[in-house]
Amino acid sequence: MKRVSKAIFPVAGLGTRFLPATKSIPKEIMTLVDRPLIQYAIDEARAAGIKEFIFVTARGKSALEDYFDVAPELENTLRKKGKNELLKTLKSTNMDSGEIAYMRQNKALGLGHAVWCARRLLGNEPFAVILPDDVIAAEKPCLQQMVEAHAEIGGNMVAAMEVPPEMASSYGMLDIKEDMGSVVSVKGMVEKPTVADAPSNLAVIGRYILTPDVMRNLNKAKSGAGGEIQLTDAIAAEIENSDNVYGYRFRGQRYDCGSKAGFLQATVAFGLAREELSGEFSQFLEGMMATRKAAQ
Ligand code: G1P
Repeated sequence: MKRVSKAIFPVAGLGTRFLPATKSIPKEIMTLVDRPLIQYAIDEARAAGIKEFIFVTARGKSALEDYFDVAPELENTLRKKGKNELLKTLKSTNMDSGEIAYMRQNKALGLGHAVWCARRLLGNEPFAVILPDDVIAAEKPCLQQMVEAHAEIGGNMVAAMEVPPEMASSYGMLDIKEDMGSVVSVKGMVEKPTVADAPSNLAVIGRYILTPDVMRNLNKAKSGAGGEIQLTDAIAAEIENSDNVYGYRFRGQRYDCGSKAGFLQATVAFGLAREELSGEFSQFLEGMMATRKAAQ
């Protein structure tokens, strides 16, 4: 089986839930502590062995391209001032020429369509898709866990997580054929079902390893849930064609950074996880909780 070396990052979304901030900055540039959301996604991809990074962007997203470019003035200034640690951090965000590609999605037709926009940049090999809104804190990065599991079983694999039943309408939901623990085989997938129609409480989270067949399915995709071309439907079609769709229960904590509450939770968690901040920050949080309790 070929190694997974390419990843698609769909980053064309308008980020309306974060207006007015996203009026002039892409939501993927919003920061958890001091690193943009997209940097977490890139680091996770690198850890999983990804060598080529394909961004599906849209108008108003050029800040993302600048972010991954070299910054000679900044680098010189830091060098002159002897700020070597910062210089190292800065340079770690640079992407080599040819390592990163940008495709434009010129109409917001859905996640399936965004992924399809990258079709000419992929060969006949499995590829990953990472949704940067889903930030996953894990000892072993989520995509790496999946690449390892995928090397054993192949096929199409989606990250999966149990969610409360009333949340089903926010996710792609899996219909489980066989539950083997961390891996489940899947006999159906539904995008954003009603609570009553949800086949289980196992939801798809934004990490995928997909076969070229899914891309072929997207060639003839029709609009699905919400009138959008859904990636879920193109994957579900592979259940009938090849019966090789799996959910992978990753180990780690996922934060929905596409929502304000999730973004705040991630900020707190990542802030507390930073050695240089945790003392002062946890003291502040404890003080705040005590004040709130006293006021109740
Ligand atoms: C997308 C997918 C959905 C998946 C979710 C995970 O939905 O379409 O199947 O469960 O990401 O975050 P979105 O959140 O972009 O509406």
